[in-house]
Amino acid sequence: MRILGIESSCDETGVALVETLADGGVPRLAAHALHSQISMHQAYGGVVPELASRDHIRRVLPLTEAVLAEAGWTRADIDVVAFTRGPGLAGALLVGAGVACALGAALGRPVLGVHHLEGHLLSPFLSADPPQFPFVALLVSGGHTQLMRVEGVGRYELLGETIDDAAGEAFDKSAKLMGLPYPGGPWLSKLAEGGDAQAFKLPRPLLHSGDLDFSFAGLKTAVLTQTKKLGADLEARKADLAASTQAAIVEVLVRKSLAALERTGLKRLVVAGGVGANKLLREQLNAACARRKVRVHYPELALCTDNGAMIALAAAMRIQSGLSRPEARYAFDVKPR
Ligand code: KG4
Ligand code: ZN
Repeated sequence: MRILGIESSCDETGVALVETLADGGVPRLAAHALHSQISMHQAYGGVVPELASRDHIRRVLPLTEAVLAEAGWTRADIDVVAFTRGPGLAGALLVGAGVACALGAALGRPVLGVHHLEGHLLSPFLSADPPQFPFVALLVSGGHTQLMRVEGVGRYELLGETIDDAAGEAFDKSAKLMGLPYPGGPWLSKLAEGGDAQAFKLPRPLLHSGDLDFSFAGLKTAVLTQTKKLGADLEARKADLAASTQAAIVEVLVRKSLAALERTGLKRLVVAGGVGANKLLREQLNAACARRKVRVHYPELALCTDNGAMIALAAAMRIQSGLSRPEARYAFDVKPR
């Protein structure tokens, strides 16, 4: 089965082609293409939803033609059209859903809406070193921070999640306070490389709460207080503040992930979502897990942030495991929340 996947939940238009294998193994990625809107939103310091929707409209079909050409397939080779049904920006989601359903209707092929986070969660299966079930998943994106026990496709138990800001949000908001461009995560992490992580004492909320929940709003407030205190000195101390902020976020993520592994007794960890690209997080998780004989899996760096491949893959794995059936019903809806 050949699946076209469309991702349009936020500020990346992602399109990909995935093919299921006769032996029931992990589906194969045949082609993927991405258009990032980051430079367009940068001038506004964050994603402008209306601009995002309009740009998805411009990009989806050309990207679809590009992946078909790359895979050497024609439109007629597509068996199923998958799209991100949510969560995300309503208008942006509607573009992906609308195009997917229009394509499905035009080609006479069924469609399937996919949960964006399930896409992130399963994305490491496309890596050179795919995980095996069961595992603990740390999902860290711009909108979500969750720890999950994953028994199989569609068998997810939420172990803990953020009670306020997501980890990516903590990176982005702190970066904004330091005058860094949007999205701040990668910028802050780059700046932090030249800084002293011990320079500022920042809170690690809920670190000792005994549960697996997270809270990052207090950290952002502490960063705000520091930037105000520093005033004109901020520029000179920015790298230290970035390093201290990153260290605080990463420490909480690492400690809670280890606690989740301990609680479940599982020896495998999957890290997914945009923050999973963070170098310090990877280094610290790798070191801590190696000491505990836990294997850690990440998506390929290019598939850490939003992309169409994870959506096509999630659809393929759901169909393969009999959990979802694509339908030739083209009255679409989306689930922003
Ligand atoms: O998964 P994603 O692309 O989109 C959502 O579904 O939210 O994640 C985007 C988030 C942003 O907050 C971005 O700043 C963060 O991932 N991010 C990073 C890094 N790369 C992306 N945060 C820290 N370090 C990075 N290297
Ligand atoms: Zn995402």
